[in-house]
Order: sequence, then structure tokens, then C-alpha cells
Amino acid sequence: EEAEGQRRFDAIIAEDSRIEPRDWMPEAYRKSLTRQMSQHAHSEIIGMQPEANWITRAPSLKRKSILMAKVQDEAGHGLYLYSATETLGTGRDTLNDQLLTGRAKYSSIFNYPARTWADMGAIGWLVDGAAIANQVPLCRASYGPYGRAMVRICKEESFHQRQGFEILLELSRGTEAQRTMAQDAINRFYAPALMMFGPSDTDSPNSQQSMAWNIKRFSNDDLRQRFVGMIVEQVKVLGLTLPDPELRFDEESGQWKHRDLDWAEFKRVVSGGGPCNAQRMARRREAHEEGAWVREAAAAYARRQQAEKEQ
Ligand code: ACO
Repeated sequence: EEAEGQRRFDAIIAEDSRIEPRDWMPEAYRKSLTRQMSQHAHSEIIGMQPEANWITRAPSLKRKSILMAKVQDEAGHGLYLYSATETLGTGRDTLNDQLLTGRAKYSSIFNYPARTWADMGAIGWLVDGAAIANQVPLCRASYGPYGRAMVRICKEESFHQRQGFEILLELSRGTEAQRTMAQDAINRFYAPALMMFGPSDTDSPNSQQSMAWNIKRFSNDDLRQRFVGMIVEQVKVLGLTLPDPELRFDEESGQWKHRDLDWAEFKRVVSGGGPCNAQRMARRREAHEEGAWVREAAAAYARRQQAEKEQ
């Protein structure tokens, strides 16, 4: 039966169609997808924090409502990614426990502080921009629930990116101090945003297998280069610059080449030593504890509904 399952799985992958939750799948496929999807869900949830910290300080009512909507979207992304991950057989409690006990990874980017209002612009433009560049190809991921979740997430991310770009555009046309603030935000978020694509291809243990399984469609470096090519044009509209003196268009490969990233910093941030790791985790644990009454109330309500049905 297992051999038959494997044969069917291989055929589905070979014809580039989709694996659904009830289909047989190799344990390693299930495990790797659970890993990637749960890390992605955790990133969305932790990723609410840098921007949530600015909701009370947004400069106008309009900005405040846009930012609130955006942060709520991120919560929604986290929730449907957890649901999609659960279809692979690991429960929400387990996934959440992995995050709260520090056993699970989440994106390095969210361990950097958001210091000024311009950071809301840089996060929207660069961080959500990098997220889109990485996630649009994931809409075609071989696992059905993941690919379908990505479609909606990418649509919402596009709105997020535009709102970030628009914040920077307005600041770039403002006073000298506002232009400086916008440039400073770009300077701080550029390299960390490029690191979101993951280690370089020569140092990416999961890439080859994920590509063979049609989960990933492009390598980390390919997507990173594609993203740099996009922002290099967009930054001109802002009249600002990317903090990368080595950035150049390579005629031969037809690609933009950027400066080498600081991989020691990347490793440090991924393994807990970034500027905000401890703060982000402490806040997440606190929010989980503060939310205990909601979970208890929901469970009590569900029990009562069930009891009424059984009467
Ligand atoms: N931050 C933290 N960890 C990272 C990062 C990063 N920026 N990049 C890679 N890693 C981790 C990987 O998760 C992997 O860890 P593991 O093997 O312990 O699970 C390890 O570093 C080695 O990397 P790769 O072999 O390249 O891993 P993978 O093939 O999974 O590629 C990538 C990493 C590109 C992030 C992939 O998992 C992916 O596309 N994920 C979905 C998108 C996502 O999670 N985005 C989150 C940020 S966007 C947002 O939330 C708005």
C-alpha cells in the first residue's frame, strides 16, 4: 500500500498537480511542510508586534485605522496558516507550544526594532515586499491548503506593501527631517529584508528537496535578486537610495548584484541573539497568558452548545 501511495504521490508531483490532506504522502514531505508552514504562521503572529507598537503613535486617525487593519490582516494570515498546517496532522496547541518554548523558528526580520514612524513605511515597502516576492511562487506549492492560503495572503500583502510605500513617498516629499527619517528607515531595513529570503543557495539545506517536491519554485538567491531588481526601480520614485554601494546590474546574467550579506548577523538573529528576540518572545508569552480567559470562554461555550444539541 505504501509503494502504491508513493507511486501516486510521485505521479502527482511529476504532473505538477496538488497533494490534498487525505492523500498519502511521504513522512518527510509532511514533516518538511509542517516545518515551513508553521514557521510561516509563527512569523505572521510575531510579525504583528513591531507595527502594533506604533498603533497608538500613528500620526493621524487615517494612518491609525490603516495600520490597525494591516496588523489584523497579519493575525488572520497566522490563523489560516495554522489551520492549513493542522491538516498535516499536528494540532494548534502543539505548534503554539513549539513557539512559546522557543523550539520553533520564525522570520529573523521581526527581531529588529521599529524606531520611527518611517519604519512603518520601510516595513510595508521592504518587509512585505520581500514577503510577496517569496510568497507569490508559493501560491503554486504542491500542497493544496498551503497554496490556496497563499493566494489570499499575497493579495493582502500587496495592499500592505502599497501602504508602506505611500508612507515613505509622503515623507520623502516632506521636510528635510522627514526625508532623513525615511532614508534612515530604509538604511536599517534593507539588509534585514534581504535576509528574509534565507541563507544563500550554497548554505540552504532544505532548498533542493523542497524544489523537487514543488513546494519552493525558485531558490533563495534567485528570489532575493529578483526582489532587489524591483526595489532598485521603486526607490528612484522616492528620490531616496538603497544603502548598498556595490549594487550593480550585471549585463551577463541580466541580474542585479547586491553586496554580500552579513551571515554571522543572520545566524545570530535566527538563533535568538537579535536586538528584539527576547522582547518579542516575552510579549508573545504574555499575550498568550492574557488570552487564557478567551480560550476558556470559547471552550465553555462550545461545551454548552454541544450539551444543548444532545438534549
Ligand atoms: N529567518 C529565520 N529562519 C530562517 C530564515 C529567516 N529569514 N531563512 C531561513 N531560515 C531557516 C529555515 O527555516 C531553516 O530552518 P530549519 O531547517 O531549522 O527549519 C534554515 O534557516 C535553513 O534555511 P533553508 O534551508 O533555506 O530553509 P527553507 O528551504 O525552508 O527556506 C524560507 C527558508 C525561504 C524562509 C522558506 O521557508 C519559505 O519560503 N517560507 C515561507 C515564507 C515565510 O515563512 N515567510 C515569513 C516571513 S514573511 C511574513 O511573515 C510577513
